[in-house]
Amino acid sequence: MDITFLLNGETVDLTGVAPTVTLLDWLREDRGLTGTKEGCNEGDCGACTVMVTDQGGPKALNACILFLPQLHGKAIRTVEGVSGPEGDLHPVQQAMIDHHGSQCGFCTPGFIMSMAVGHQTGATDHDTQLAGNLCRCTGYAPIIRAAKAAADVPAPDWLRDAPEARADASAEAGRALPGSSDALARAYEQHPNATLVAGATDVGLWVTKQLRDLDPVIFLNRCDDLKGVEIDADCVRIGAMTDMEDLRAVMADLHPSYGEMIRRYASVQVRNAATIGGNIANGSPIGDNPPALIALGASLHLRKGDTRREMPLEAFFLDYGKQDRLPGEFVEAISFPRQPDRLKCYKLSKRFDQDISAVCGCFNITVTDGTVAEARVAFGGMAGIPKRARHVEVALEGQPWEAATITMAQAGFEQDFTPLGDMRASAAYRLETAKAMLERYFAEDIGGAQSVLEIAP
Ligand SMILES: Cc1cc2nc3c(=O)[nH]c(=O)nc-3n(C[C@H](O)[C@H](O)[C@H](O)COP(=O)(O)OP(=O)(O)OC[C@H]3O[C@@H](n4cnc5c(N)ncnc54)[C@H](O)[C@@H]3O)c2cc1C
Ligand code: FES
Ligand code: FES
Repeated sequence: MDITFLLNGETVDLTGVAPTVTLLDWLREDRGLTGTKEGCNEGDCGACTVMVTDQGGPKALNACILFLPQLHGKAIRTVEGVSGPEGDLHPVQQAMIDHHGSQCGFCTPGFIMSMAVGHQTGATDHDTQLAGNLCRCTGYAPIIRAAKAAADVPAPDWLRDAPEARADASAEAGRALPGSSDALARAYEQHPNATLVAGATDVGLWVTKQLRDLDPVIFLNRCDDLKGVEIDADCVRIGAMTDMEDLRAVMADLHPSYGEMIRRYASVQVRNAATIGGNIANGSPIGDNPPALIALGASLHLRKGDTRREMPLEAFFLDYGKQDRLPGEFVEAISFPRQPDRLKCYKLSKRFDQDISAVCGCFNITVTDGTVAEARVAFGGMAGIPKRARHVEVALEGQPWEAATITMAQAGFEQDFTPLGDMRASAAYRLETAKAMLERYFAEDIGGAQSVLEIAP
């Protein structure tokens, strides 16, 4: 595969690139740019953070789970390329020195890159921006102080990259890098055994942790027509290649509880890569989007060649590891009806940020004149697939919206789910917490104080 991108301001042309070489390995082993560190090699620690600029502006991404072909036409900055041409320090570098933000220094290049991106984009929610960077020795307070101090200094001109112009955004770059969903449909129909790579936040780990050989591979990152969210009076349609950060921004407006849940989905670096299509197609029972979308009454849009079909999202998940998807068929989009916001999403995990759900419960309950008119309740982490709580829904519908109804409906969870126990939570805990989430929804709806982030004295 032949690709081109900018690296620290210089054009790089590569020919015959193996599809699953990670940016991290290439930087360190081929380029000798060892400032970008390898910590976990699975997207969890942020030591390998780089800045990648495309048409959407600069983003922080984890180089360890980013394959080189995903970078075609983009501009990359590593920690070696963050200071000025005359050696001037970037404001975040200077602030880290001034505020003693580094001790052993292993995590520091990753922090610098996340901070430089936040600085460039004007982000001031430093806790969120840095939640994907782990530090073992300094402690976060000096680092956050440094990020705050740097925010007052203007962004330096030398870091304003544009995407690599020579890689025409819509041009084909071979079968493995189709430039549109039509080209993808043709390529995948001809090579239905190929592995599709969207954001690679799952597939990357198949290579770095399971050492799997994935060839042939088809990358979706050039299919711009699969990116973005269309909103009209009746419908919200999300292209399969929409990433979690873009989805978060849309949901923060339409369904704020869903937007808030996505804020706790992994980290900025992972959300900048992970796509909605990948989160659904992987069929994970603990993916965070399916329960929210099922509760919203979403439909899944699949395409194989020129043939398209649509199904309720919940029908896609047949059994653990088994989805209703044909060879050569891919997720094109997901859509759901516009509706008044009644959705609440509760993500329960051991760590607040950057952790997979033990249980994710999503509730969309419409109450008319004090009676439950419609209930859609869906869960992740309670079965081998994301699943609706049908008994709970039926128990709620037509009943008065009052505490006694909630108590009665809670019994339905035991008919709907037989959860497993694992390292994240025991089966009994999962069942109890699902019941508690319904109670929480009701309490919140009638105006009770429900912040689980503040502990009452
Ligand atoms: C550190 C870390 C933290 C994470 N935290 C969370 C979390 O909090 N919540 C959560 O839900 N997930 C989490 N994940 C999992 C992961 O981010 C998601 O599953 C992600 O949405 C996958 O999307 P992707 O674009 O990266 O998919 P990829 O890794 O590219 O692909 C995943 C699978 O989907 C297939 N695929 C991709 N796109 C399509 C398509 N359009 N049509 C058909 N098949 C397709 C691929 O072939 C592959 O089988 C985390 C992952 C990491 C590494
Ligand atoms: S090395 Fe840990 S996130 Fe990449
Ligand atoms: S300074 Fe040592 S890990 Fe952060």
